[in-house]
Amino acid sequence: MRIDVVTIFPAFFDILDVSLLGKARGAGLLDVRIHDLRAHTHDRHRTVDDSPYGGGAGMVMKPEPWGDALDQIVERTDAGIRPTIIFPSPAGEVFTQTTARDLSTREHLVFGCGRYEGIDERVFAYAATRGDVRLISLGDYVLNGGEVAAMAMIEAIGRLVPGVVGNPESLVEESHEDGLLEYPSFTKPATWRGYDVPEVLLSGHHGRVAQWRHEQQIERTRARRPDLLPDTDRD
Ligand code: ADE
Repeated sequence: MRIDVVTIFPAFFDILDVSLLGKARGAGLLDVRIHDLRAHTHDRHRTVDDSPYGGGAGMVMKPEPWGDALDQIVERTDAGIRPTIIFPSPAGEVFTQTTARDLSTREHLVFGCGRYEGIDERVFAYAATRGDVRLISLGDYVLNGGEVAAMAMIEAIGRLVPGVVGNPESLVEESHEDGLLEYPSFTKPATWRGYDVPEVLLSGHHGRVAQWRHEQQIERTRARRPDLLPDTDRD
């Protein structure tokens, strides 16, 4: 999978070199390229923002550097592949595991990280002529910009790309994969500081273990995230 990121803070993405995603990059499974938006400015101050038409607080990102950056990225990519262009935004659709699964099947993702009060709205219309545009929010809170959100999405999407996570079975029994939260996990020792591992897990009885885990999933989901359950299962 090819991933391009446009940002005024390339250093945010230095952590892509570590851990599983770093390995995946090294192995050529993820081809991630970071682009500095300021490289697409043409003035001495490398200006990327300006005051909003109509007044109001804060600054808005200018359209010209975004247009140039998108042109360059899309033109350099293989002809015939239409990228999915994602703008992280608190005003977007909410990112979920389903979104991550869907995006993990795409060949080419472009993340456009906005700062300040946002990006000139015309950039989204222009981007739609070059790819499939999605505005995606990490959740109902406001970050200072799209970088941290893009990083979280790249990790959630990247680990679903075949080969990135060594043991694909570990992706199956995770929170959100079957609409429920994950069951609790324990390892040795069986007793630690007076806390015991549940007896059923020591029984070696696979059927009972599976049933207990499923019940735990439902119990936890009901307690912590009742919104994930169908109405009939909530209480
Ligand atoms: N940029 C600022 N806040 C954000 C959020 N909650 N999700 C995605 N991008 C953002």
